[in-house]
Amino acid sequence: MEYNKKNIENVNVANKKVLVRCDFNVPQDDTGEITADQRIVESLPTLKYLLQHGAAVIACSHLGRPKGTFNEKYSLKPVAVRLGELLHMNVSMASDVIGEDAKAKAAALQPGQIMLLENVRFHAEEEKNDPAFAKQLSGLAELFVNDAFGTAHRAHASTAGVADYLPSVCGYLIQKEINVIGKALFSPRRPFVAVLGGAKVSDKIGVIDNLINICDTIIVGGAMAYTFKKACNRPIGISRCEEDKLELAKELMLKAVGLGVHFYLPGDHIVGDHFASDARPYIMQHIADGMMGMDIGPSTIARYVKEIKFAGTVIWNGPMGVFEFPSFAEGTKAVARAMAKTDAISIVGGGDSAAAAEKFGFADRMDHVSTGGGASLEFMEGLALPGIACLEDY
Ligand code: 3PG
Repeated sequence: MEYNKKNIENVNVANKKVLVRCDFNVPQDDTGEITADQRIVESLPTLKYLLQHGAAVIACSHLGRPKGTFNEKYSLKPVAVRLGELLHMNVSMASDVIGEDAKAKAAALQPGQIMLLENVRFHAEEEKNDPAFAKQLSGLAELFVNDAFGTAHRAHASTAGVADYLPSVCGYLIQKEINVIGKALFSPRRPFVAVLGGAKVSDKIGVIDNLINICDTIIVGGAMAYTFKKACNRPIGISRCEEDKLELAKELMLKAVGLGVHFYLPGDHIVGDHFASDARPYIMQHIADGMMGMDIGPSTIARYVKEIKFAGTVIWNGPMGVFEFPSFAEGTKAVARAMAKTDAISIVGGGDSAAAAEKFGFADRMDHVSTGGGASLEFMEGLALPGIACLEDY
C-alpha cells in the first residue's frame, strides 16, 4: 500500500487542541523505570513542532496490554515524567482517558502546553475500536495527529477510530517511515536485496511472498532457514523446523525461480548440540544428526556480505542466528556491520533486528531503523495499515 498523506505542516495547528497518538509503549524494569526511551525521543520532533506553532497538545498512547482495566503497573505516569525531562517543560498527566479529569485538563490547556492522557488500553473499547469511545476521545480535540507508527497496524479507537470524527494527519515519525520504507517498496534503487531471518517461516510468509514480487535478491537466515533447507532435502539434524510449512517453503522458492529472483539459503552453519549459550560451536556444511543449526557459517557470511555491499537498497528483518548467545552471534553481527558499511540505502525493520543493530553498535549508521516491529512487518507484507490509511490524503 503506497501512502501520500497530509502531515502536520499541511494544516493550521495554531490555537487548536490537537490529539496526538504516540507509541509510548516503552520497556520498563520491575520498579517501573523506563529502560529504553527511544520511542519517546522519536516523538519529540512532532510534539515540538506542534507546541512551537501554538497548538495545545493532548498526547495519548497505550503501554503494555492491560486488557481493558485500570492497572497501576501500566500507568503512563513515568512516561509523562520522562517526556517532560526531554521537552524541558511540564507535562501534565490526566488520571483518566475520557473522564472528568481528562476533560477538565484538556479544556484548560493553553497553546504551547502539553498534557498526557492515561493509558488508552485501560478501556476495553480502545482495542474494539468502539465508535462511542472514539467519539468521546475525539471530543477533547479539534485535530488528530497520528505519529504512532509502532501501533499503525492496529485498528483501534485511538489509532484509527478517532479519524472518523476529526480532521486527521500524520506526524513526522509516520511520515518518515512512509517515505523511507514506502520508497524502498515502490521505487527501490536496485539491486534490491531483502535479508530475512528469525525463527519461523510462518511469521514471515507474507513478507517473503510480497518481497519476491519486488526484490532482486532474497537472503534467508535464522532458524527459518532450516525449514527451507529441509524442503530442499538437505540434512538439518535437530534444528528447528516447521514440518507443516515444508510445502509452502517449496512453493515460495519455486515462485522466486519463476520470477528470476535470487533466493539464497545458508551453505554452511554454526551448530551446537543443545540450545544454550554454553553450547560448543562447530562449523558444518551438512548438519550432522544430533546437531542444531544456530547461526550462519563463515562462507555464508561472506556471500551475504557481498550481496549487501553491492546492493542499491537493503531491507533487513530478522536475525541470522541466536545473537543473544555470543558463540552464535557472528552472522547477525556481520549482516549489521555490512548494512552499516554499504553504500546502499539500508533499512532495518523493527523488533529483533533493530535490537541487534543497537546491541552491536551499528544502529546509528543505518539509513533508517524502523520504530515498528509488527507495523513494519505488515507494511513490508503490502498490507494496509489502518492507523495510516485513515489519515487524509495529500
Ligand atoms: C509494539 O510495541 O509493537 C507496539 O506498541 C504495538 O503493541 P501491541 O502489539 O501490544 O499492539
